[in-house]
Amino acid sequence: GDGPHLKQPNWSFNGLFGGYDEAQLRRGWEVYSGVCKSCHPLDYMHYRNLEQIGYTADEVKEIAASFDVPDGPDEWGEMYTRPATPMDPIAHPYENDAIAKLANGGVVPPNLSVMARARDGGADYIYSLLLGYADEVPEYVLEADPNFSLPPGKSFNHYFPGHAISMPQQLFEGILEYSDGSTPSAEQMALDVTSFLQWAAEPELEDRKALGRYTLLFLIVLTGLLYAYKREIWKDAH
Ligand code: HEM
Repeated sequence: GDGPHLKQPNWSFNGLFGGYDEAQLRRGWEVYSGVCKSCHPLDYMHYRNLEQIGYTADEVKEIAASFDVPDGPDEWGEMYTRPATPMDPIAHPYENDAIAKLANGGVVPPNLSVMARARDGGADYIYSLLLGYADEVPEYVLEADPNFSLPPGKSFNHYFPGHAISMPQQLFEGILEYSDGSTPSAEQMALDVTSFLQWAAEPELEDRKALGRYTLLFLIVLTGLLYAYKREIWKDAH
């Protein structure tokens, strides 16, 4: 049988006039850093990029300093860790892939910074995935494949290809507190972190849409001018 279709929330960044909601992106960062960062890297992103979603330079310094990053060697040849600075890339959760694998049932948690562009369905897919867990294998899966069984250590997810995912459900009501006082329901956290990941994957979206609007306007005006010109040229032809 058929599984559920992707959920399609009304994203702020949809449509010709869509854009990012900075307060939402900051909540999304709170979800990433409170939940996802213990397993997933955000490659190519630096702490200073958080200024683009409305954090002040001082806030970014403080956020960065709450992460430890490896550095060195020092003058005695020793490696060490130090608090991150705004110029550092967002710290990796694991020292290397082997350790990441070991901690996650043999699968490396993928980089999330381009995930919204890397997967079919984009933001709808990530949102659906995060909320798409089931405790038991549903009937429609067993109808399609009577031999389906969940390997040990895997969770059932409606939207993950093949349904057996190495990431357990992450979002449960109240697992964090939002600093703006929003209610941390699973749906809210999924909306916020997915919007944040969309921004991470496509920070230039608003510029692109503005260019699209100007282009459209230009083409409409040009069409009008050409039409008036045509009428002018042909006005004496009968
Ligand atoms: C995979 C998002 C937290 C472990 C994924 C995928 C996404 C994602 C989008 C890719 C699914 C695909 O390949 O199509 C998130 C978000 C999180 C979060 C937004 C925070 C809200 C975590 C945490 C862990 C984890 C805390 C570790 C305990 C994994 C693993 C995979 C994965 C192991 C690979 C799954 C597989 O290929 O079977 N995650 N994740 N994730 N995540 Fe997470």
